[in-house]
Amino acid sequence: MNKYEIAVIPGDGIGNEVVPAAIRVLDAVAEIHGGLSFQWTHFPWNCEYYLNHGQMMPENGLETLQNFNQIFLGAVGMPQLVPDHISLWGLLINIRRGFEQSINVRPAKLLRGLESPLKNPKEFDLVVVRENSEGEYSEVGGRIHQGSDQIAIQNAVFTRKGTERAMRYAFDLAKERRGHVTSATKSNGISHSMPFWDDVFKDVQNDYPDFGTASIHIDALAAFFVMKPQIFDVIVASNLFGDILTDLGGAIMGSIGIAPAANLNIERKYPSMFEPVHGSAPDIAGQGVANPIGQIWTGKMMLDFMGYQEIGALILDAIEDTLQSGGKTADLGGRANMAEVTDMMIHHLRKRA
Ligand code: NAI
Ligand code: MG
Repeated sequence: MNKYEIAVIPGDGIGNEVVPAAIRVLDAVAEIHGGLSFQWTHFPWNCEYYLNHGQMMPENGLETLQNFNQIFLGAVGMPQLVPDHISLWGLLINIRRGFEQSINVRPAKLLRGLESPLKNPKEFDLVVVRENSEGEYSEVGGRIHQGSDQIAIQNAVFTRKGTERAMRYAFDLAKERRGHVTSATKSNGISHSMPFWDDVFKDVQNDYPDFGTASIHIDALAAFFVMKPQIFDVIVASNLFGDILTDLGGAIMGSIGIAPAANLNIERKYPSMFEPVHGSAPDIAGQGVANPIGQIWTGKMMLDFMGYQEIGALILDAIEDTLQSGGKTADLGGRANMAEVTDMMIHHLRKRA
């Protein structure tokens, strides 16, 4: 029996609802598999914690988390009480950077049983590999002067190491898929970092001669996500481009409430962190109506990363079975609540096992 120690940070808002739902599903999966079990340890680090302690997580938070196999996180943010840049940088970005989770992986696919908002969607099945440690999301810059003289400078930081690492990960992932990598660029408008990005892509591409490749400007690429998402296999993008593109990825699937994500420390020196794309959804928090599928699919990505691809695939099958048999929350136009969708998930898992 393999036992995994998982640190759980439900966070704020619906994080406190969808995380327990996903844990129910993952415990059911472990029981079905028979060869693994999870030990869940909860940490109450969120905006309420910040209001009581003046920080999002304790000083030794990273040290505490370091001993766990993985981190399973819901969502963080209570914008009425704590400014978003404080809650985001104080917890999520702290963990992503501290544990060198340099790659963010976010799949989007047309799911059986779910209507895409696209009119005639072809079968799309793509993965965005987002550079997760640098790029446009950097602390380099500042603000000076007052009034009409105000100046804000925000520098984007692109390193050879970080850029190449994301691109190599994308090619290695494409090897297990359809062997095609698209680079999201904007070298026509951004005149230093993006031509650099293109150069690195050309270099890395040389090491993967049998792969199909394309380099597409991010604005056109966003339009293609709507017009013909089926042309994509793996897309590699900078931090900002990948962030925006993956909300769109969630949207063309049917709802951001089903989109999963993984922050990977690919060297496996530190724990990786698994959290859905969506936020804390204050508008629906506490009502029991949040869609748990994004968090559950995120759990599937955690299992995949830990080497349990077979039961990972079982989870995705059960998600599709659940949707097909009407297990849909309001964001998907359905009437089921979160608990009902979770019950149906577990039912379909057991049925398939
Ligand atoms: P959001 O993703 O929380 O909500 C956007 C819209 O999608 C809302 O109408 C919400 O009800 C809906 N939605 C999201 N997840 C859903 C689910 N599972 N089921 C059904 N509907 C769902 O994004 P928003 O409103 O921009 O941000 C709210 C807070 O969350 C902010 O504080 C923001 O900073 C934070 N946030 C945190 C993230 C994280 O922890 N990784 C990611 C994005 C936002
Ligand atoms: Mg985002």
